Amino acid sequence: MPKRSDFPKDFLWGVSTSAYQIEGAAREDGRGESIWDRFSHTPGKTRDGHTGDIACDHYHRYREDVQLMRDLGVNTYRFSLSWPRLIPTGDGPLNPQGVDFYDRLIDSLLEAGIQPFLTLYHWDLPQTLQERGGWENRQTAFDFARYASLAASRFGDRVESWITHNEPWCSAFLGYQIGLFAPGYQNLKAALQVSHHLLLSHGLAVKEIRAACSRPVEVGAALNHNPAYPYTNDPADVDAARRFDGYFNRWFLDPLAGQGYPADMLAYYADDAPEIQPGDLDIIAEPCDFLGINYYEREWVQDAPANLPPQTRRHTDPARPHTADREVYPEGLFELLQRIQRDYPKLSPIYITENGANFPDQIAPDGRVRDPQRQQYLEAHLDQALRAIQAGIDLRGYYLWSLLDNFEWALGYHGRYGIVYVDFDTQQRTPKDSARWFQQFLRS
Ligand code: NOJ
Repeated sequence: MPKRSDFPKDFLWGVSTSAYQIEGAAREDGRGESIWDRFSHTPGKTRDGHTGDIACDHYHRYREDVQLMRDLGVNTYRFSLSWPRLIPTGDGPLNPQGVDFYDRLIDSLLEAGIQPFLTLYHWDLPQTLQERGGWENRQTAFDFARYASLAASRFGDRVESWITHNEPWCSAFLGYQIGLFAPGYQNLKAALQVSHHLLLSHGLAVKEIRAACSRPVEVGAALNHNPAYPYTNDPADVDAARRFDGYFNRWFLDPLAGQGYPADMLAYYADDAPEIQPGDLDIIAEPCDFLGINYYEREWVQDAPANLPPQTRRHTDPARPHTADREVYPEGLFELLQRIQRDYPKLSPIYITENGANFPDQIAPDGRVRDPQRQQYLEAHLDQALRAIQAGIDLRGYYLWSLLDNFEWALGYHGRYGIVYVDFDTQQRTPKDSARWFQQFLRS
């Protein structure tokens, strides 16, 4: 099993969260409504109607949570700002109480020796902007750039590492094609236009962040990628894997690397392909300082013409371990990193900005949460991360998802990804066995 000392000395070790999933205080201190407030309050959209109204109450308990991180021994923490907490209407003035909350959070992290790694957009668009078309409206990209600039001028003196978007595939395709996430639409053309506006907003924001910070900072995006493998060697399945890869991975990686959208996918989408204005692709390809990768699973793909584009069906291997919602496939992390380094050398260095597992954890009568499968999951993935470094891949950090059990989107509080157990009735935090293991690992 890998030890911390096997990794480079300056490697970043962190945990990751996002605003809507942990903060709560949804209607306090001037915070505006977000599309996730609206969506989760719409009957039938989340399991058991769960919402992020209270979540982990991190807004009031952030000091305790920083202390938990200090005890773990991480040297960095990835979290997101709530756009509607900072700018309640999306494009209006800053909310001083929102600024104050993030000031206090950032200051306590720094006091604890924990470097803040800040994400600007983790899916909670201000509802007022949704009413004007949300990400389907090109103007939202410019509103996002303005928000990025305001955030950078306010926090850039203390925050060195900035992520524009988290998993834009989810915002675009789960939000607009599949409808599982806010705002819950089902329209491929809209999803593709949204993906383009998200990428455009990324490029615009990178420039704004650099211009607004009073010192050099590092800026990038965090993408979710599943390496795609054909289910059989039938040419139809091989082609399905290519299509899935285009839909999920290359659609974002190619334009960020300055290659424009993949030609095979533009042809496949035909009339649904997005409208692109002259100059957009150059803006999107604004050079970044790193690429964030969120890795959870692979895609084992069969051709399925009757399914929604990309007309594929996913399989998992019953012989492999599974978490509550995914197949465990650690080698995919190595293969993904290797592929990015090979096909997209411009996008390096890489941080693993998320990796973790959901299990139905329970507190035992003795007060302990035994989660050996999570520890195994994490060890197996750290092994692959180390293998990547040994193979010469420029990997600089690992952020475990997540510090706390939290609001797992459509799964509500049923998806427990934390290494710290949260009792959502009492808000009591209990480090799971995996947290003790991670703490030992970080001391090793
Ligand atoms: C990716 C997302 O960024 C995060 O919000 C989510 O909770 C985890 N994956 C686990 O599904």
